[in-house]
This record gives sequence, C-alpha cells and structure tokens, in this order.
Amino acid sequence: MGLLIKNGEIVTGDSRYVADIWCEGETITRIDHNIDPPAGGGEVIDASGKYVFPGFIDPHTHIYLPFMGTYSKDDYETGTKAALVGGTTTIFDMCCPSRSMEPGDGFETWKAQAKEKAACDYSFHMGVTRFDDNSAAQLRKIVAEGVQSFKIFLAYKGAFGIDDSELYQTLRLAKELGVLTTAHCENETLVAETQKKLLAEGITGPEGHHESRPPRVEAEGVNHLMTFAEMTGAPVYIVHLSCREALEEAIRARLRGVRVSVETLIQYLLLDKSHAERPDFEGSKYVMSPPLRDKKNQEALWNALRQGLIDTVGTDHAPFDFAVQKPMGRDDFTKIPNGIPALEDRINLLYTYGVRKGRFDLHTLVGVASTNAAKIFNLFPQKGTIQLGSDADLVIYDPDYRGKLSAGTHLMNIDYNAFEGWAIEGRPSVVTVRGEIAVRDGKFVGTVGRGRFLERSSGTTCA
Ligand code: URP
Ligand code: ZN
Ligand code: ZN
Repeated sequence: MGLLIKNGEIVTGDSRYVADIWCEGETITRIDHNIDPPAGGGEVIDASGKYVFPGFIDPHTHIYLPFMGTYSKDDYETGTKAALVGGTTTIFDMCCPSRSMEPGDGFETWKAQAKEKAACDYSFHMGVTRFDDNSAAQLRKIVAEGVQSFKIFLAYKGAFGIDDSELYQTLRLAKELGVLTTAHCENETLVAETQKKLLAEGITGPEGHHESRPPRVEAEGVNHLMTFAEMTGAPVYIVHLSCREALEEAIRARLRGVRVSVETLIQYLLLDKSHAERPDFEGSKYVMSPPLRDKKNQEALWNALRQGLIDTVGTDHAPFDFAVQKPMGRDDFTKIPNGIPALEDRINLLYTYGVRKGRFDLHTLVGVASTNAAKIFNLFPQKGTIQLGSDADLVIYDPDYRGKLSAGTHLMNIDYNAFEGWAIEGRPSVVTVRGEIAVRDGKFVGTVGRGRFLERSSGTTCA
C-alpha cells in the first residue's frame, strides 16, 4: 500500500515545480510527472491548486515543562495533535530537568512523557542545568543515545540557570562531542536586580516583566555566550532572539568567526510589548522571556529572516492558562509563569503575514520553518525536504482557505489564544507523518503514540 499525491506544486527550500509524489511505506520513493495510481491499491490525493511542503519542524517547544511552580498545560498527545493540524510534523522539545535532578533521570522522564502519546516525530535538546563530573558522564551517555544538542539557560537565576564555569565546561564538552549548544541568553543578575528595584517602586503588573528585561539585558546575554563560544570554539544556537540589539551582537560575533545560528519566534515577529500592557491582567497572557519588544524590532527580524541572518522560526510553545496559572503572579509579575502558546498557529501565521504580505517568499518559509532546523540539528535530508529517500512528512497546503484563529477552535490545551481573532489566509488540508495521513481539513485523523523519537547522529552541521 502506498500514498500518491498528484499535481501539487512542490516547494522546498530551493525548488518549486508541479509533480506527483509516490510514498511507499514511510518514505518518498518516486517524484515524477503522471505517476499512475498503484495497481495494488493505496490512497490518491488530488493536490491541484495546492502547495506541497516538507513537514515543518518546530525547533523549540516545551510540551512537558515543570516551571515556576507549575506545569505547562499540554501533554504530548494534545501538543502533537495541535502541531500536526498546524503543519508541524517534527518537534524539538526542551528536556529541562531541575538542577537537583540527575540528567539521566530527566532524559528518561521526558522520553516516558512522549512515548505513548506523541503523534508526530520528536527529538530533544538536553538541558544542562548543572555541570559536574557526574552530570558530564550522564550527558555523554545521552549524546550517545542520539541527542545531539544541549540546552542551557543564562537566565532564571536559582532555577535552570548555570554559572560561568558551568557554561565554560558545558561548551568544552559539547565541542569535544560534536554537540550543538542551544542557549537562552539574558543576563540573570541584571534581571534579578531590576525585578527587585521595580517591585520596590510598586510596579507589580505584567508590564513590569518587560521593564525588568530590556533589550540590552538580552544583548549582554548574547555577547556573553559569544565570548564563551569564541574561547572554546564550540558552535552555539541562540534560542528565541527577540530584538535588534541582540541580533547585532550575534552578527558581530559571526564576523569574528564564532559559529552561531539564530532562532526567533513567531510571537516576536507579530506581537509587541503593548500586548503585555493590556489592562485587567490580560497582559499576563503575553508574558514570556525574553519579553515581547517594541514594535520597531519586528521589521529588523523579518528583514533578517529574508536575508538569512536569522536561521529558524520556532514557537517556544509553553502554555500556562489564564484561569489559574497566569494569576499566580497577579500581585507580582515575577511570579507569572513565562510562556506564550503558538505551536498550532506558527505556519499559518508565517504564511499569512510573511509570504502573503510579501515579507519573504515560499522558499524562505520552508527554509526558516523546516529545512534549516533539519540541517542545523542533523536531521537532513531525512526531514526538512522533499526528495527520494526522505521521510514522507508532507504538508498539502491550501492557499485559498480563509479563517480566523481562536481558543474556541484550536487543539492546544490552553484557554486562550494569543492571536485570538487574527485572520489566516491558508492552512494545511492534508498532513502526513512518514506516509500516514494525520490531518484532513483541520481535523486530526492520525495515530496517537505513532510519533517516533529521532536518534540523531554525531557531528553538527551548524553555521
Ligand atoms: O517564556 C518562556 N520563554 N518560557 C519557556 C521557558 C524558556 O525560557 O524557554
Ligand atoms: Zn528560554
Ligand atoms: Zn524555551
């Protein structure tokens, strides 16, 4: 049995043409004109008038996240169903054990969370929240089991944050093992001191969040990481870069020879700090770190994507509800759980407000939302493109669809949508995961638990 997709306009990072795709089992085995329907049966999908994209990859999610005294709301079932309906067929979840948890136990915990629930494929970035001889030995094992990237936090003092000698040691180990280190860049001391100052001045609402973490605090974090990357020779990946000042630090470092890739988020491209200033605590829905910025940063981020200065667009999907969890910080913005959900909506928003608005072309969409992540994180060409031998992860995309985003209709397990009422001009009509149809016309029809842990082989291909 196979799957035949006829007459779609295939779009990859660097090509665009009309052809048929034949998928046998989990793999693309033929791309040609006028492929006949198989004699032995199998489904035929007419993709005339539609784009066929490689499955999209979200390089940064928190489906399972114990954080700030609570847990993010999705689990691997709700999260990956939502991902698929939105066209994302692979996620990289952050495995973030607490400082007191052994990395090996953390890795087993995250794998167990995903195992029987994930409907799409997944990998992890392994959080290094403590570095000593014991954790280093466990990290070596985890890398050998197919996790080719670390995650570190230069923020969250007293929680996930590591100090400078741990940062140095982590990068040394990463360099030795050929592992790419992804990093949250904000100066944790400046954040903590500014938070104290603002609270003492009586600023307690959600708007205090972005006041306590201005662009310079993020730029300093990036500069800090760049210096350590330069000293150790380790390649690094900046997660959720939000503003021009931070990007300038990364570009300066690139010119010095630092091997750095950069990720931004759909939230920073379309939302700004005025959302976090909304009255009646509505602003708490828009609290995340680094915070939403002044709108003027958005143009710089779109331009940087178009010109290849930013490599990927993720979501940092970390849903905390408005009913119970965000109010944990009603009287103190430092206690509002950080995160803005977007996993389901990333591609439709990028297509509508990126491609349709003329900010970048279809190839850039595929590049920043799929191919580049596959290359940077060692999944290419299994994922991230449409070619013979690649996994049959395909998004048949209907550019004629018109709709609106809403918490009333989304699949994410969260009681608000940060893009409530936003128009979308296109959506996936069919999504496949390794040859199996997982979505039809906005409905999940796939198999919970079929998602596979992707073991990645050694050697980074970063920048
Ligand atoms: O606000 C955010 N970004 N929440 C998730 C944790 C992180 O820093 O990535
Ligand atoms: Zn972060
Ligand atoms: Zn994150």
